[in-house]
Amino acid sequence: MTTQVLIIDFGSQLTKLIARRVREIGIYCEIIPYDKINSNFIKKKKPNALIFSGGPSSVLDKNSPKIEKFIYELGIPILGICYGLQLISDFFMGKIDAKNIREFGKANVQIVSTSDLFRGVYDDKKKYQVWMSHSDTLIQIPKGFKVIASSDSSKYAAIENKRKKIYGLQFHPEVIHTFKGEKIIENFLINISGCNKDWDMKSFKDGMIKKIKLIVKNDNVICGLSGGVDSTVTAILINKAIGKQLRCIYVNTGLMRKNESQQIKDLFSKNYNINLEVINASKLFFNELKNISDPEKKRKIIGKLFIRLFERSSKRNKSAKFLAQGTLYPDVIESISNFGNSKVTIKSHHNVGGLPKKMKLELLEPLRNLFKDEVRVLGKELKIPKEFINRHPFPGPGLGIRVLGEVNKNRVRILQEADSIFIDQLKKAKLYNKIWQAFCVLLPVKSVGVMGDNRTYEQICVLRAVTSNDGMTAESYLFKPDFISQCAKEIVNQVKGINRVCYDYTNKPPGTIEYE
Ligand code: XMP
Repeated sequence: MTTQVLIIDFGSQLTKLIARRVREIGIYCEIIPYDKINSNFIKKKKPNALIFSGGPSSVLDKNSPKIEKFIYELGIPILGICYGLQLISDFFMGKIDAKNIREFGKANVQIVSTSDLFRGVYDDKKKYQVWMSHSDTLIQIPKGFKVIASSDSSKYAAIENKRKKIYGLQFHPEVIHTFKGEKIIENFLINISGCNKDWDMKSFKDGMIKKIKLIVKNDNVICGLSGGVDSTVTAILINKAIGKQLRCIYVNTGLMRKNESQQIKDLFSKNYNINLEVINASKLFFNELKNISDPEKKRKIIGKLFIRLFERSSKRNKSAKFLAQGTLYPDVIESISNFGNSKVTIKSHHNVGGLPKKMKLELLEPLRNLFKDEVRVLGKELKIPKEFINRHPFPGPGLGIRVLGEVNKNRVRILQEADSIFIDQLKKAKLYNKIWQAFCVLLPVKSVGVMGDNRTYEQICVLRAVTSNDGMTAESYLFKPDFISQCAKEIVNQVKGINRVCYDYTNKPPGTIEYE
């Protein structure tokens, strides 16, 4: 059985990073909100190790998230990070002090006692940089524990109870600013908890194909293709499991990138023996989006139209029981998390949040535990052509959320032309694969320009290019100025309707990658 680690989430914005580090080590893990944890759940999951995340609460607060006593009696190794350490300390009768000063950012720790947690990572002579983010502080060590590291302001920066295999870190090993933080996590998982590095894409693929067969049995599945990596990988994976019981539907919404519809048809018809239905619905989409400028309204309209078309298609043909979607782990985490900012809808991603409540199809989401880079590795494992796997992500609502303001055929065409020039330039300059996502956005304003002897009054196009690991955070790509000015020149010269090009330097956060 594959090793499995559960990360119990107490609301930290960094919990996803812990999951990434564990997966990078080669161990399967899942994030579970603390209030879903009970003994039946743990019995069913049989985790090899538990990690308690950080969180914004104070254990001194009566209503702060807690975990039941049974968890400490199972003999499963536990690593508590930040709030996790405080929770463990509170349970084992340590003392927490509510300091009003927040220790945030880089700090130095020093080993004070040898521990398996730091073996081969930190030696006891030097100080090491770590990342701290806390205000409550442990001031009296819990019963049965010893201190293994301290920092200038946290005497108990790391503690252990070797017999019970329970460890606590006041600092965040998952953050890159912590020197060799991933090695500390690896020590906990491999050397202390005895986990195996047995999470790889070949075993995921084989396991998931079996699982899909078991779930679907003799029923039919429909899968919407968007042209993106996720839906392509989803479809091909399901096709491997159930063959012709899968029918793919590609809706030409009119909101796709230039030539995209043809490329998708070619990929599927030339390389795979898959049922593919193409629905030309651009008129319907443009009609429904007429006079709509509000981003959330646009997303909901597009999401509902997709589902309506899928349902109609499934009725027309053999009735399908399942709708397959390429939902990924970051979407799932954002949808299930009960904490902090996640309560606020930042955008309703239509492959999760925007689905109509009365949808008649059951969801089949084989990628819902994977991060984007893992999906690409799975794509390679499935032998999907490189140019598809390495394509930049594309949002379900397509150019509908990149044409800001009203979406109509003409504005979409203008954006398609500009976007295709930008992408061609990136490929020519061999920059395309260095960038997570690059695209153009059409602003809902016009500005004055001059071309030849004539005054122009046209729209503005913004170029957006970001680097990222998973889309959850992103940094604007810093091109050489020549490159941007070349793109601006090509776009203004070739695309009628645009007379000005800007570049967006905003990172995520505070910006999002898409504009709507
Ligand atoms: P944001 O704009 O939230 O985007 O920073 C993060 C990543 O998600 C993609 N995205 C979507 N993908 N349906 C999708 O399948 C959507 O509704 C959607 N909205 C954003 C976005 O392109 C980026 O990669």
